Amino acid sequence: MGGMIIRKNTAELERMRRSGLLVWQILQDLAKMVQEGVNTQELEAAAEKMMKDAGAKPAFKGYYTQAAGSKYPYVLCTSVNDEIVHGMPSGKRKLKKGDIVSIDTGVQLNGYFGDSALTVPVGEISEETEKLLRITKEALELAIDKVRSGNRLFDICGTVQKHVEDNGFSIVREMVGHGIGTELHEEPQVPNYVDRRNENPRLREGMVLAIEPMVNAGGPDMQTRADKWTAVTKDGKYSAHFEHTVAVTSNGPWVLTRP
Ligand code: MF3
Ligand code: CO
Repeated sequence: MGGMIIRKNTAELERMRRSGLLVWQILQDLAKMVQEGVNTQELEAAAEKMMKDAGAKPAFKGYYTQAAGSKYPYVLCTSVNDEIVHGMPSGKRKLKKGDIVSIDTGVQLNGYFGDSALTVPVGEISEETEKLLRITKEALELAIDKVRSGNRLFDICGTVQKHVEDNGFSIVREMVGHGIGTELHEEPQVPNYVDRRNENPRLREGMVLAIEPMVNAGGPDMQTRADKWTAVTKDGKYSAHFEHTVAVTSNGPWVLTRP
């Protein structure tokens, strides 16, 4: 059984909008910094400063997960190439031409969270990798269009899955999107595939979902590195990740994490 899905009123959504726009601005600035020779710790430092300047609390730094058995130590997840999610910023991780880097971040502002991610190419990347980024982003956009009152959760899950698999890529199963609000992770879980054993609640005005397809160029299998956080593909092939925080409104989907 899934738990209760918390619906937000207009005033609450306006607050979430502020968090969302800050996350968007941070990701825009970081994406512009990405180039050959930059290390992921430089992205981390820039992001931490932007959050501080905005009076926002990082959503990830200090976040405990049972799976890792520790608190996450950074404001960003920077996942390079075969790293799927939860890659940790490092001064030793210099980006080079042909790499892709997923930047995932969240903030808490006035009590409410925003969460978003994008995957950025470093210089020129292969045609196959370009397609991986494009299909993952398209899958998210198609899913966003399903965030409408009266639709069901599986409309989102199935839309991502179909677009990804029709294009020859695979969906990571172990990691899912989530409801979001006064907590970073609320009900419901938002898988990027349909599993009929899961619950399929109807979407209602005021629900807010972080939809985050994680898509592998090769097989779907994932493993976790010795650091207990970094999720990588088993076959070493590249993985892409895009995420937006999206509200159900009477006017359809409201993407809180972009203008
Ligand atoms: N966007 C990811 C999520 O929603 C990032 C979480 S990283 C963590 O799960 F450190 F906060 F766990
Ligand atoms: Co998320």
